[in-house]
Amino acid sequence: MADYTVEFAGTGETVEVSDTETILSRCIEEGIAQEYSCRVGMCLACSAEIVEGEVTQPAARGLTDEEAESYALTCMARPQSDLVLDRGKYPPSIDDEAAASEAPAADDD
Ligand code: FES
Repeated sequence: MADYTVEFAGTGETVEVSDTETILSRCIEEGIAQEYSCRVGMCLACSAEIVEGEVTQPAARGLTDEEAESYALTCMARPQSDLVLDRGKYPPSIDDEAAASEAPAADDD
């Protein structure tokens, strides 16, 4: 087990997170205002852009493989190095999620 420093860019906030816990769970414990909703890697509410460092997040199903290289879903992501994250930055696919939720229900007529 290793502990890493996670810094939230532009906030002055840092938190120590082990590689066995998610970034979000540690933020909740430390009272850091990381946004979240589903906590199962689907809604993208907890997204942060990865400015520096690496995470592992195999269960981040809301991200495309390409997005997972640049964004962390903090409810699923575990650090693999010290990190700098830009909280509240969302991957492009969040626009698809929003469009799908706003689309009118299919008419069966
Ligand atoms: S809280 Fe929904 S993806 Fe993390």
